[in-house]
This record gives sequence, C-alpha cells and structure tokens, in this order.
Amino acid sequence: MKRIIGNTLILLIGLVCFAQKQLTVQVNQPVAEIQPTMWGIFFEDINFGADGGIYAELIKNRSFEFYKPLMGWREIGRGRAGEVRIINRMDANPPNPRFARLICKTDTLSYGLSNEGFRGLGVKKDLPYHFSIIARVPENDKLRLKIELIDSVSKIIGNAVIEEFGTDWKKYQVTFISSATEPRAKLNLLVEGKGMLDIDMVSLFPDDTWKNRPNGLRADLVQMLYDLKPGFLRFPGGCIVEGHDLDVRYQWKKTIGPDEERELIVNRWNTEFMHKHTPDYFQSFGLGFYEYFLLSEDLGAEPLPIINCGMACQFNTGELVDLDQLEPFIQDALDLVEFANGPTTSKWGKKRAEMGHPEPFGLKYLGIGNEQWGEQYIERYKAIASVLKEKNPEIQLVAAAGPSPNDGRFHYLWKELKALNADLIDEHYYMNPNWFLDNARRYDNYDRKGPKVFAGEYASHGPSNDDPTSRNTWLSALTEAAFMTGLERNADVVYMTSYAPLFGHVNAWQWRPDLIWFDNLRVAGTPNYYVQKLFANYKGTHTVPILMNEKTIAGEDSLYASAVIDKKSGEVILKIVNTASVKSMLKIKLSGIKSLDKHAEIIRMHSNNLLEYNTLEEPAKISPMTGKLPLSGKTIELQADEKAFYVIKVKYK
Ligand code: AHR
Repeated sequence: MKRIIGNTLILLIGLVCFAQKQLTVQVNQPVAEIQPTMWGIFFEDINFGADGGIYAELIKNRSFEFYKPLMGWREIGRGRAGEVRIINRMDANPPNPRFARLICKTDTLSYGLSNEGFRGLGVKKDLPYHFSIIARVPENDKLRLKIELIDSVSKIIGNAVIEEFGTDWKKYQVTFISSATEPRAKLNLLVEGKGMLDIDMVSLFPDDTWKNRPNGLRADLVQMLYDLKPGFLRFPGGCIVEGHDLDVRYQWKKTIGPDEERELIVNRWNTEFMHKHTPDYFQSFGLGFYEYFLLSEDLGAEPLPIINCGMACQFNTGELVDLDQLEPFIQDALDLVEFANGPTTSKWGKKRAEMGHPEPFGLKYLGIGNEQWGEQYIERYKAIASVLKEKNPEIQLVAAAGPSPNDGRFHYLWKELKALNADLIDEHYYMNPNWFLDNARRYDNYDRKGPKVFAGEYASHGPSNDDPTSRNTWLSALTEAAFMTGLERNADVVYMTSYAPLFGHVNAWQWRPDLIWFDNLRVAGTPNYYVQKLFANYKGTHTVPILMNEKTIAGEDSLYASAVIDKKSGEVILKIVNTASVKSMLKIKLSGIKSLDKHAEIIRMHSNNLLEYNTLEEPAKISPMTGKLPLSGKTIELQADEKAFYVIKVKYK
C-alpha cells in the first residue's frame, strides 16, 4: 500500500514538473503605457541613511549641537592639559548657536578632542581627505592645531597642521592622505600652545565623493541608486517629514544655503524603537533639499518632495496645526515650487541659482503629508491642494492613504480623495510574504478613471535572524517579484512605485528589511534590490497581455507573469516568477509578430533556500545571472526553475 502511494506521488510530482504549460504573449496588443516614473526610489534618513550614510561627512556632531554637546567627542588630556567649554551664542547665531572653546593650559602639554565618527570613520588607503574647521583665537593666542587620523590601535594614518589663527571666525581647510584603509578610524584635534581656540563645524570629507563634489555624497552608495535607473526620487521620507512633534518636523527652508546655517534637529528614529535606541542620531541637513534635487537630476529621476501638511506623526503625538494657522505651510509648498522651478529673478529661484543651479529643476510632483489619515488629513489636504492647484496647476499632487493597505482608514481616504479628484494616492504595505502573493491581482479591478496609484512604500516582511541583513531573504524578494508583475500589468493605474526603506547601516539600523545595506566602507545590494533593478532596467514602454488558459497569470500553478514591449528598441520583455517547489516547463508563444531573433537574453535569480540572503561579505550570493536562450520560430521554451525569477528579452519584428 505504502509503495503504491509513494509511486503515485512520484508520478504526480513528475506530471507537475514536466507537463508543459502553454502561455501566449499578444505582442501586437499594447494595453497600457508604462509611465517613466513607474519604478522609483524612496529616500528617508532612517538607519543612518543620510547622516552616517550617503552624506559623506565623517565627523559626527560637527557643530556641537546634539542634545549632549560633546556626544561623539572625547577629551584628550582633560584636567592638567586643558578643558573644554561649550558656549551658546543664543540670538547671535540661532541656527548654529553652540561652539566649543578649547582651553590649553600649558605650553608643554597638548589638549584636544577626538571624534568617533559614525561608528568610526571609514577611510581608504592613499585617498586624500579634506579637513575643514571654522575657528578663531578670541585672545589672539599663538596656537597650532594638530589634526591626526588614527586607526583602531591609535596609530597615526594621516595628519596635518593648521596655525596662524585670527581673532575673527574663519574657515580653515587642509587636505591630507590616509596611509591605510580603516573602517573605524578616529580624528584627533590637538591644540599646542597656551591659550584658547574656539571651534565649530569640524568636518572631514573623502575626496572620492559622487562627481567629486565638495560636501558631497558617498559615491559607492549613489552608484547603487544610479544603477537602478529610477524613475523618481521621493524625499525626505517617510515619518521624518512629520516629526515626532511639529517642532521637529522637516522644514525644507532650514536645509538649504550654507551648511553652517542649516539648523540641526533630532532624527525622529533616534528613540523611536526601544529595542533599537540610537541616541546619537540627528539631522545635520548637510544633505538638504538642494542636494536632493541635485541627486534626482544626477539619477535622471523626477524629484518628488513630500512636505509636512500641518500634522505630526500620528503614531507619536499626532499634533495638528489649526486650519486657520495653515498659511505658513501652504506658503512653504508654494515657495518650494518656486525654489525648484522659479526664474532666477524670483525670491526662491534666486536662492537656487546662488547655490549653483540657475536652471530650474523641473519639479512635476509634490506630496502633501506623508502617511497621514483621518478627517484631519482630508481637511488639511484640501486646504493645501486647493491653493496649489490654483497657483501651480502643472504640479501633480500625491495624497496619503494611511499606513495600511486595507483598513477603514484606507477606504475612507480613498473615497474622500477620489471625490476630490486627487492625482495620485500613496499606498503603503509592509506585509508578510503571503500577502504579496495573494495580492498580485490587487490592482486588476481598480477604477481606471480614478486617481492613480503611487505604491510609495512596500516591502515583504518575513523571517530573520540576528544578522542585520537577514530579513532580506530570497523569500521576501521572490514574493515581491511576484507582486510586482501585478503592478506592471496594471501600469494604466499604477504610475509610481518604491520599495522602503532604502538604506540600512549594519551597525546603526532601526528598521529592516532595507533595500541596500552598507557599513563605513562597503555596500551590498539585497535580493530585493536586484529584483527592483531588473524591473526598472527592463521597464519597456507598454504592457502587453501574457496569458495562460486565456487568463492573466497571477498565482495559477504558482506562476506569476507580466509582459511589456519597448516600442523604441523593438523588444519584448517577459517577467516570470515561479514560486513553486518544482520546476515548470513553459512554452511561450508570441503572437502578432512576423519573427523573433534567434536568441533571447535571459536573466535568472534563484536560490533553493528561501531563507538565504546577501551579506557585506557575500554581496552577490543572490543576484541576477545573465545568459542566452536559443529560440526557434516565434516560441520561447523555458524550463523555469523552482523558486526562481526570470526576465527574458528578445527583439521582434
Ligand atoms: O519606511 C519606514 C517608515 O514606514 C516610514 O518612515 C513611514 O512612512 C512608514 O511608516
């Protein structure tokens, strides 16, 4: 009896494996145009994404403005050699009130401060480093400042000296080369000579920033974004837009202009999670709105700023600005449009030009509030949107749909926003892997004439272990790929999508999974990153039907599929996901064409272990493998491996 059951099972599995499935792609029947913005990036300063991450500044608390002014700093020679005083200039310098006064007590002993960086300073052998400081000697003392980069055993690996300070504040700069690669270096500042040195804005940047810009971004991290070919860049978040309370909401005007005039505030992820307290997390705004616009331009992505709509984070204080007090918020939005697009003769266009970009940034999209919900949101959205629509009708507005993809708040907001003819509605889903499979048809029945969807934050949240990157499993990426075929199939409704969050520092994260992991010197794409990259790099221009048994494919026999054509290059591109534990033999007939090339490009992502993930040590364990697939006639034969994602691209006539 047992044997028979066993054989029957083997036979059944054999049939499942090898019974060929017939698929058809109707190449000559384009359904929807794919928006250039379809696959984009969500950027938020969470997990050390900006300060300590993409913003290449290596000094933490460079202007002594953290709650604890010496956080990140340690005194060298405290007591006999000298002491430090923190002076507050109060109204004389509201955005940057504090500075440090280093008092060196003797001519023989040096005294100073050491900065620990963001979990260390990551430095590279033979690379120049640019040090700068704003300083003065208030009593005209003759002092020298020794700058020493030290490795983890306190060996000096780079140094420089600044002397002849004046009595007025002035920026001093010097460049030195690091003689070693070190992920956890420190920077020592040592005063020599008896007297007082006042210091502020202590800064160290690597020479190899993105496009070698001073005060720039980490080139390796930007390169990862560039390689995605994103359609848009949403910034600066995320909950960071809202703030824990309104006092610490994101205010874009305070993030532009000279660095030393950008007012630092706490990062709301600093204390958000008890289990991941990060007390040294602040926003220096070295990466501010001007730099975000510049980054969008560099990436060839549409800028999509999100502004605060008079509401603090509803998971925290939920503070509201009264409706009759909303005017400054509305003005901020109007001024932002002028900053991005206005002529250089306008007030805010002039500021853009002064910062180095006289040409407009070509802003087309603006988000009103982040992840808000409730009647209070609708009231504020209405007030802000009505003015924007009147003054800047060319700007498409993104409205919020709350934090959940399917609850009362979500349905209420959709109903209200639809009635208001909202342009785009921002849906968020941090859900389990099965949800992503079950929702591959989510948009099939959305109203084609209603507001368009911005799937603005999503990620498949599954199992993990203590390893930071372990929540970015192949399971999470594979289920996202399956779901994304549904996004693509519905490109007439879904206009923008972005995975969230974007970055995670392995030693300083608060939230996971994240798309890209890094430490002070290395970076790794997750399997999820490569899935995003494949969809975005093989975007096409129009969707076309891909059918099995004359129906779209969204879970039948554990298969998920979408197809697009690229009218410019004359290519058809298929995306196929097999989530089954067995192979699937597919015979894919392409109809409505004269002929196909002899070979297709085939890209496969696969792992037999759904719980496998990439690490900084093995960053490409799960990544795309490219090959050629021979074709005959107008048919593609594919033996789709179990738990695999394929992209197949071929030229047609
Ligand atoms: O992506 C992390 C957070 O998730 C975002 O800041 C917020 O919008 C959402 O709750």
